[in-house]
Amino acid sequence: MFTYALNALLQVQVPGITERRITDIFKPLATPGEAERQAAFLTLAITGAIFIVVGGLIIYTVWRFRRRADDDSRQEPPQVYGSNQIEAAWTIIPILIVFVLIGVSARVIASVQNASPPPKALKIRLIGHQWWWEVQYPDYGIVTANEIHVPATPDGKNATYLELTSVDVIHSFWIPQLAGKMDLIPNRTNYMWIDPREPGVYVGNCAEYCGTQHANMLLRVIAQAPQDFKTWTLGQQQPAGNDAQASGAKAMFNSLACVNCHLVRGTPSVGKFGPDLTHLMSRQTIGAGVLVNDAKNLRAWVNDPQEAKPGCFMPSMKLTDHELDEVVSYLQSLK
Ligand code: CUA
Repeated sequence: MFTYALNALLQVQVPGITERRITDIFKPLATPGEAERQAAFLTLAITGAIFIVVGGLIIYTVWRFRRRADDDSRQEPPQVYGSNQIEAAWTIIPILIVFVLIGVSARVIASVQNASPPPKALKIRLIGHQWWWEVQYPDYGIVTANEIHVPATPDGKNATYLELTSVDVIHSFWIPQLAGKMDLIPNRTNYMWIDPREPGVYVGNCAEYCGTQHANMLLRVIAQAPQDFKTWTLGQQQPAGNDAQASGAKAMFNSLACVNCHLVRGTPSVGKFGPDLTHLMSRQTIGAGVLVNDAKNLRAWVNDPQEAKPGCFMPSMKLTDHELDEVVSYLQSLK
């Protein structure tokens, strides 16, 4: 299954946009990620120094007091009482170090969490599902899945604010180059924000074990130049494509159980359990990043989602070849 996910993550190329395939926490490209990197480096430096001192003393002691040929094994070594000064020092110094680390962490967390959104900030509501992400843009009336389009903001002024919640179990939003992890918890709303500095696709995944397909709950943040983002929102606000050539296919789709779980705006398909399909073909991947969104994969997915994503809640509908052809051609009309 890992190869599926990796394939989809690595294959999709968007013309004219950089794909950030390396999810390197040490190369952040957003303010929260940068603040956290500094805290991480400080912690690494302090704990690294402690490791070298303690490890060095252990190596020195093992070598210095190793067994010698002339050791007298019948005699106990001299018994000494410890040193009050040394004991006080190795109690107080670690306490001080712990307080420094607590202080630094608390300051970074507060600086990220207490930043209030500017009045015109883009708001996104992100809802965790087993095993996909629902992405709502309340101010635009857009609903999509698994791929979060946001404006890139080289000056950091157009940050995107996210409200995170879940409909089932706890999930965790994690795009390593943008920010630390934040849980999506049922009956609770968590907040976080991202301000990608450069346009590109930032990949991430669910970071809290949430069941069988946790590892295939992949995420893409697509940061676009403000103009491209605007174009995207205008496209998403359009009603679902109503391709006359696909009308037979549409009728077929609407006669099948697909409509109970999926929404296609302005059609009889009004289910809310699975991802919104209104503009399915505008997404690069399907199955929450498991497969590249092309005709072949779409057909394989509809035929039996359990093949690519065993245990997922979309069943194989056991469609005939003809039904499959029709459903896929309808889905492909949803541009
Ligand atoms: Cu959702 Cu792990």
